[in-house]
Amino acid sequence: MVETLKVEVERVAKSRLPQVDFSNLPFGKICTDHMFMADFRNGAWGNLRIVPFGYMPISPATPALHYGQSVFEGLKAHRGANNEALVFRPMDNWARLNRSAERLCMAQVSEEVYVEGLRALIELDRTWIPGAPGSSLYIRPFLFSADEIIGIRPSQDFTFMIIASPVGAYYAAPVKVKIETHYTRAVAGGTGFAKAGGNYGGAIYPTKLANDQGYQQLLWTDGREHANIEESGTMNVMFVIDDTLVTPALSDSILAGITRDSVLTVARSEGMRVEERKVSVKELIEGLQNGRVREAFGVGTAATIAPIEAIGHEGVDYHLPAVEKSSVAPHIYKTLDNLKRGIAPDPFGWIT
Ligand code: COI
Repeated sequence: MVETLKVEVERVAKSRLPQVDFSNLPFGKICTDHMFMADFRNGAWGNLRIVPFGYMPISPATPALHYGQSVFEGLKAHRGANNEALVFRPMDNWARLNRSAERLCMAQVSEEVYVEGLRALIELDRTWIPGAPGSSLYIRPFLFSADEIIGIRPSQDFTFMIIASPVGAYYAAPVKVKIETHYTRAVAGGTGFAKAGGNYGGAIYPTKLANDQGYQQLLWTDGREHANIEESGTMNVMFVIDDTLVTPALSDSILAGITRDSVLTVARSEGMRVEERKVSVKELIEGLQNGRVREAFGVGTAATIAPIEAIGHEGVDYHLPAVEKSSVAPHIYKTLDNLKRGIAPDPFGWIT
């Protein structure tokens, strides 16, 4: 018989909610009143608890700090018409969390721990879900080694946590991206398909260099030849080439984005031609030059759909047609947004 894991709840004495300026929500800066925690000890999950959001003791020797043994997820809840919390595809995040955990040699998070933690936290902090268009509650589950040893070996103890943050739009305007041909985000056989903290940490420096040159994000290319497009910033990337929605095919150096899958599924359901395949830098540049590339956009949970206005390559900026002329990205954004907010029916069964 499976033992039911009960979540112990310690509420805050006083909510911080009245102090929050919902008209100004820098991404991820403000967290809700509570956080969920669970411990993996002696091969089993236990000690499920909700506690006030705040600092926590952690061993300075933990491999999470030294060796990046840490994986995370990102998902969103929207406020429905009757103030209910509508959570988008949470079990897909659970499945991916465990694929990431496997690659980093970490314990699997059981469905019960994940679901009970998510449910308890959202139940308690549901009033933090913003209602304004473009805003949502960004939910961040994460798992890290809780071993207390500097020696490197498969960890035995882990902590799983969920925190949440009310967020507005991620990018205020269309972005300029640079094709990265020196630095690499991920390579075949590496951890690129996993949502490992280190993938993101290693991307900050090259991104900063691009920022200094006037680009908001990078277009990552493959690590071997820098000849094929892989991702954009912290997102998957898509192009409308002629009348086809094209995105790099998944591989072990590309994250299987849940927004990526949602966009492709909506596009296919509407009869649009979709291709998941290699997109070479050469094809992209030629397509930008001859006008066949009509739209380019990043797709990810945090930013949802982020239109790209220009792509830089070897010192030249290639401009996309004006974003106002785009039809595919805004249409799919609206379709998904209506579904996530419960305004439109959910034919795919994505809302919990
Ligand atoms: C997400 O879209 O959930 C991400 O992983 C982006 C995050 C690094 C801010």
